[in-house]
Amino acid sequence: MKIGVIGTGYVGLALACLADFDNEVLFVGRSADKINNLKRGILPIYEKGLDEIVKRNLEKNKIDSTTDYERLKDAEMIFICVGTPSLSDGSIDLSQIKIASESLGALIKNTNDYKTIVVKSTVVPGTTKNIVIQALEKASGKKAGADFGVCMNPEFLREGTAVYDFLYPDKVVIGRYDEKSSSTVTKLYEFYGNKVPTMTTDLNTAEMIKYAQNAALASRVSFINEIANICEKFEVDVYEVAMAIGLDSRIGPKFLNAGAGFGGSCFPKDVKALLATAKSVGTNPILLDAILEVNKYQPHRMIDLAKQVLGNLRGKKIAILGLAFKSDTDDMREASSIQIINSLLMENATVKVYDPQSIGSAKKIFGGSIEYCSSKDECIKGADLCMIVTEWDEFKQINLSEIRCPIIDGRRVLNPLSVKQHGIVYKGIGWKNN
Ligand code: UDX
Repeated sequence: MKIGVIGTGYVGLALACLADFDNEVLFVGRSADKINNLKRGILPIYEKGLDEIVKRNLEKNKIDSTTDYERLKDAEMIFICVGTPSLSDGSIDLSQIKIASESLGALIKNTNDYKTIVVKSTVVPGTTKNIVIQALEKASGKKAGADFGVCMNPEFLREGTAVYDFLYPDKVVIGRYDEKSSSTVTKLYEFYGNKVPTMTTDLNTAEMIKYAQNAALASRVSFINEIANICEKFEVDVYEVAMAIGLDSRIGPKFLNAGAGFGGSCFPKDVKALLATAKSVGTNPILLDAILEVNKYQPHRMIDLAKQVLGNLRGKKIAILGLAFKSDTDDMREASSIQIINSLLMENATVKVYDPQSIGSAKKIFGGSIEYCSSKDECIKGADLCMIVTEWDEFKQINLSEIRCPIIDGRRVLNPLSVKQHGIVYKGIGWKNN
């Protein structure tokens, strides 16, 4: 199938995987620089395995990129994957969605073949129906469901494992406006065979599923973080508690890792957007509010623990291991490290940082106000305190015999008992001996 993809962020670029399944993928973006790089196989993001897929299919001429919407005239299916960033009130900015829909409408006006437009961007319920379809119909002068098809097909990919998640999803959700387009999308995903359950819903339901899923996962993280904070007061290890409750088949073990809070491009943005949407339609979303409140507090817990160890932080050298919002990505959007570092700077501490991927992103945020290190050893050397903020595997291999300062573990990367056996002061979120 000839597929067009509007938007070259995580959501769009992950669709490069479709080129491995007998499809031709044409990316459309606004930035000429990004598009030129993409043509040479240079991706604007770091995502394990994706660059190989792009390079392989560039060589086979199965992937191409352009800034010109006109080139989509031959595409049978076009995915809208543009960004929907947060506005200051928590709602989402739909301007890129509108521009993409209007541009596609103009394209459809001048083509006679039936195209299926698929919204993959994360959008609040009602957006595909009220914004996308209206813009498409207005700009094309044609009728959705008759002259062109519309579906909403949310993505559930995690950064860092996007390729794996694309190849082995738990489910496919297809929100349909019309029968013909949903069967075209179902056909596209036939390569999954019958191992992957596919749910066909209406448009609003598909949009809501994405938000409800992210809110459910974020609520588990905030829930266990709240339990962690209580556990510490009773000398209880939250990881032991999480392991036990996770054994209950009604609860399950995943997303119960307590720590310095969740970040990234989805959880904070999506919970805020669902909250704003809920309020805008007159409901009172108490739980959604609480998820964010707990999460706002977690990075400060790291500062509380630091003060427990060092007292006043003024003039103290603090080594921060990990800047990305989670491991296997260079993404620092809404990362807990940002709040932690800002608080440390407010306390007049000196901050040294190391992250295997995110130093470039950190320099854009903190400039010259902190020191950047090229290895974990360099970062820890001479520090008064070390804070682990991201769960990178390489931090598990820290040589404890070389450590001279206390450790605050914000992700339970280390085994507290082994750290203590080395005579090192250990504190961690939800650890019993804080
Ligand atoms: C998330 C969803 O998982 C994915 O389905 C959706 O498409 C996009 O949003 P992502 O943001 O890549 O994916 O990261 P995820 O692995 O879900 O982690 C989000 C945040 O929660 C990270 O900051 C992580 O450190 C934190 N987290 C996760 C915890 O603190 N504890 C956990 O147990 C799990």
